[in-house]
Amino acid sequence: MERIVITGGRPLRGAVRVSGAKNSSLPIIAAACLAPDVSVLENVPHCQDVLTLQAILADLGVRFEFAGTRMTIDAGGLYRTIPDYALCRRMRASFYTAGLLLARMGRAEVPLPGGCSIGTRPVDFHMKGFAALGAGVATEHGYMKASVARRAKGAPFYVPRSSVGTTINLMLAASTARGVTTLTNAAREPEVVDTAVFLNLMGARVRGAGTDTITIRGISALHGAQYTIIPDRIEAGTYLLCGVATGGDVLAEGLIPEHFQALLGKVTEAGAETVVEPDGVRVRVARELAAVDVDTAPYPGFATDLHPPLAAALARARGTSSIRETVHDSRFAYVDELRRMGAEMKVEGDTLRITGVEQLTGAPVEALDIRAGAAVVIAALTAEGTTEIRTVENIDRGYEGLTEKLRSLGARVERVDDEAIREVV
Ligand code: EPZ
Repeated sequence: MERIVITGGRPLRGAVRVSGAKNSSLPIIAAACLAPDVSVLENVPHCQDVLTLQAILADLGVRFEFAGTRMTIDAGGLYRTIPDYALCRRMRASFYTAGLLLARMGRAEVPLPGGCSIGTRPVDFHMKGFAALGAGVATEHGYMKASVARRAKGAPFYVPRSSVGTTINLMLAASTARGVTTLTNAAREPEVVDTAVFLNLMGARVRGAGTDTITIRGISALHGAQYTIIPDRIEAGTYLLCGVATGGDVLAEGLIPEHFQALLGKVTEAGAETVVEPDGVRVRVARELAAVDVDTAPYPGFATDLHPPLAAALARARGTSSIRETVHDSRFAYVDELRRMGAEMKVEGDTLRITGVEQLTGAPVEALDIRAGAAVVIAALTAEGTTEIRTVENIDRGYEGLTEKLRSLGARVERVDDEAIREVV
């Protein structure tokens, strides 16, 4: 079992280059398989969720080359319509194979997904959307089964709770449907826009992505395309919050500054100095942080995926902060881990109240999911003493080269493999 061991107390300083967005890469890799052709994606991060999707699609007959950050996808040989159960259980984004298979093969038998433990997270919206496109949809023995006679049929669909996954899955499913699909209350996240841009490069006709109404005029055949994935705004936000929490000075490079307005607004309110450069954002903190109140919200609101990292950064802020989680039903499991480190945090319904403490102390903790993992990393960087983080595979799901990137900013961090230690002993 691997652990990440962090000795805290050092302000992080320096520049860090942001990787490609995991949450864009996943749907775009699935989208590339809509055409029996070759696509080339640049800036794909080597994180575990990407590798898991690659394994799921390879098992369906897709061929991959993944060298550096370039992924070449040859989907000519895709022939199976039932993705592997055990692999799909590992992450929710495996459900993008449903929209893909329905559009490309006319049928999909996709395991109901697993993923981070951040609330109930069903896929009922996705299934309603497939049904609206004329598919017969049923759940049986842990699988969602959906099929259309020949092609799906374009239709209007109201996306409940402006769900990101539903919006993207329906863009995939509708891309080859007969007629026009209109998604209202569509998610406006940059990853939705990125997927739409890629689909259009494949020959699809998707309009309005980035607004709450997206129209997809289905066409009978798509072709391969070449594309560069956008930078990961959540990864970048995590490193900026590492800088804020440790009272440091961090420049996140190679990103799209307009994705950061909600985050920068809040860290400025908390007392950080922020500088926006053409392709970078810098945060600097020279004084004690002040408490702030935040509501998470769909884009362009404050990203739910930055809620746990922000909570960790506010653990030592002066006064009482609050974070109201409005996107996921429950995203507070990480709070117990931060409490082990001395944080004073209380969950009241959908709201977390954080009373700033003088000091956190290192402790053995777990990375319960991707962003819960980021939260314990941030707390550890600010804590007195050493923190051992277990279940680091959850961090690896979403962060490429985390320990190396933190070390380049001056953090005292290492990865320890218990097996290796035992072998040496
Ligand atoms: C995406 O998940 C992200 N994952 C999540 O990031 C992120 O937290 C979330 O969007 C919100 O921004 C990927 O892009 C792979 P939703 P997604 O559908 O698409 C409910 C990370 O750490 N809902 O917008 O699954 C759902 O339970 C991950 O990188 C239903 O009830 O999120 C949630 O409360 C974690 N039924 C809300 O809607 C459905 O059928 C929004 O979910 C679908 C969603």
